Amino acid sequence: MMKRNFLKCQSLLVFVVAQVMFCTAQKKTVDQKADSVLQLMTLDEKIGQMNQYNGDWAATGPITKDGDKQSQIRNGRVGSMLNVTGTAHTRTLQEIAMQSRMKIPLLFGQDIIHGYRTIFPLPLAEAASWDLPAIEKSARIAATEASAAGVHWTFAPMVDIARDPRWGRVMEGAGEDTYLGSLIAAARVKGFQGKGLGNTDAVMACAKHFAAYGAAVGGRDYNSVDMSLRQLYEVYLPPFKAAADAGAATFMNSFNDLNGIPATANKLLQRYILKGQWNFKGFVVSDWGSVGEMINHGYAKNNYEAAMLAANAGSDMDMESRSYIKNLATLVKEGKVKMAVIDEAVKRILKKKFEMGLFDDPYKFCNETREKQQWDNADNINFSREIAKKSIVLLKNDAFRSAPGGDSGVLLPLSKQTKNIALIGPLVKAVRDNLGFWSYSWPDDTARIVTLWNGVQNKLSNTATMLYAKGCNINDTSKNGFEEAIAVAKQSDVVILSVGEAPDMTGEAKSRSNLHLPGVQEDLIKAIMATGKPVVVLISAGRPLVFNWIADNVPAVVYTWWLGTQAGNAIADVLFGDYNPSGRLPISFPRAEGQIPIYYNHYNTGRPARNDSDVYYVSAYTDMVNSPKFSFGYGLSYTQFKYSPVTLNKTTLHAGDKLEASVTITNTGNFDGEEIVQLYVRDVVGSVVRPVKELKGFQKIMLKKGESREVKFMLSVNDVKFYNDALKYDWEPGEFRIMIGPNAGNVQAKPVQWNR
Ligand code: NOJ
Repeated sequence: MMKRNFLKCQSLLVFVVAQVMFCTAQKKTVDQKADSVLQLMTLDEKIGQMNQYNGDWAATGPITKDGDKQSQIRNGRVGSMLNVTGTAHTRTLQEIAMQSRMKIPLLFGQDIIHGYRTIFPLPLAEAASWDLPAIEKSARIAATEASAAGVHWTFAPMVDIARDPRWGRVMEGAGEDTYLGSLIAAARVKGFQGKGLGNTDAVMACAKHFAAYGAAVGGRDYNSVDMSLRQLYEVYLPPFKAAADAGAATFMNSFNDLNGIPATANKLLQRYILKGQWNFKGFVVSDWGSVGEMINHGYAKNNYEAAMLAANAGSDMDMESRSYIKNLATLVKEGKVKMAVIDEAVKRILKKKFEMGLFDDPYKFCNETREKQQWDNADNINFSREIAKKSIVLLKNDAFRSAPGGDSGVLLPLSKQTKNIALIGPLVKAVRDNLGFWSYSWPDDTARIVTLWNGVQNKLSNTATMLYAKGCNINDTSKNGFEEAIAVAKQSDVVILSVGEAPDMTGEAKSRSNLHLPGVQEDLIKAIMATGKPVVVLISAGRPLVFNWIADNVPAVVYTWWLGTQAGNAIADVLFGDYNPSGRLPISFPRAEGQIPIYYNHYNTGRPARNDSDVYYVSAYTDMVNSPKFSFGYGLSYTQFKYSPVTLNKTTLHAGDKLEASVTITNTGNFDGEEIVQLYVRDVVGSVVRPVKELKGFQKIMLKKGESREVKFMLSVNDVKFYNDALKYDWEPGEFRIMIGPNAGNVQAKPVQWNR
């Protein structure tokens, strides 16, 4: 009896102690938890956490064939894997990690750039929607699908400002503007991370590529960047800061050197700005092999030195270069890398693993039921069509003498009663191309992806006859298909011509010096135009292309980028008027490659050209105008919007005042439609020269036909701050120009005086 009571008491005691320990553990901060793990780790195990390998699902960089990764995982020598996906696959590797001494879970990273199973428009295309809630939702869905398939971490958003469309990676970002880019960066981070790390549908975001990668010389990928710190702070860093402020869990550094120091070993960027000034608490992963590539840069003698430079500069994890795993232990022993540097990096990584809840349940993201539920989720697919429509930009819609549709006399939208429609061009029946770069192939892609042909077919009644001719390939010299295409065009009432780049002409390592339509596509368009039929040209691309003849001669031109899984339906919605296009360009479209870099927020210079014909001793080309073919912010609607004169609440202000700028927009056309009202500011005289205009606000409004609405913008001195010569972020009193309009090339300006 006594013995039983004793045993009872003892088990009660054990229970109470366990509870106390549990509660204390619960109360421990993530910081303390990470510390308690860290103190149990050997140096080799710590270095293992800083090591990331590619898996075997996809290769998104040059592969190194070496060693048995599984046994390295078992030995605690790997902290993270990229390109491993699917609950079954990730579970298998996680089980191996659980056999390691410290049982530290792996992080699975993946480039979820514009969707996982359901693909959304390219990030640049989505940026054309200027629709922050939609952009956030697209990232949210991508995260939901990816996390259900075992992915913990996306290498997105890419927030690099890109002023050079030769650079193939313009497709991955939000375009040329810092203000718009910063808002989109934050929206994407919020979308990916959802209600916060620890939720099973949240993936860690990764703001990349830190920093200034978009300014690579000549638009050549991986190239050098040399820029003033002021430009860095003012133009290139704010989207990163916005991503950090929105809670981005991680950052990725970049391949380029910045002012002579590779970003991977850049203390200014990583230690001083990111982890110092911005107090960033997450961790930094290198880009693929970028630690070892410092040898090619001529910055490190060998991998040993590269590892030392990168680790000391604050690169916490080495993606695929193997420099850390091979050299850090020796470097620590030799005192070249302090233990504190290793501990700090590892702690940052461990903290994220704790925040993700992986220490509680390493298989948290390996739920097959959830994976199945998210596979081909109807809501996700519907949303893909929604955001694809919003991303389309109508560049031109002129009258055509015998336009078959549109009561306004312009060619678009086409009537659904049109009897004979010719669809011509190499992209009409293209399938996977619609997804663009940075999207993964699935065996059933052909069945799922809506082609242009299918989209138009879905839209029309059985009374319409759809005719097809490919005409030519995307990048070919053969005109053999022209004759058939011309014959098909002649039988039609209207021709929809679908042309563009191949999808793998943009993306990583896809820089191009020639931005014209590849192959003989423009010749095909000319041949079809010669039939006298009304022609709509659809241009699919991941970057601004140069297509002056088309823009000048074809009555209707629609920029369709790469729109994702629902591309065909979205394009048909626009072509046949079920959706009134509302997209606006997030990047300037040049008239010629020679104008690049071209961006709206340039300086005025001492000899500005007064207009496009002014070349007399001014800053201009003698053989080409300065203005872009299509300005930043440009895009048409099927309706028209009239802007009233801009009114200001005050024209002389003091530091604490708010400036209210208002304009009334009236929908004067025949369709309900959305307008993106844009506000730009110029600081007329500064202690350093200021751009001719800078976007400082925009509002996307829906107006019924005939409806008017007043749109108000509020500005304070915070909106006119800039980095002065001493890199101090402040405003300066004086004259400002407040500009409002439908795009950067078409604004009305009002002066104000802002005093101290
Ligand atoms: C290299 C790319 O620059 C980067 O953006 C990407 O996340 C990694 N490869 C991993 O695929």
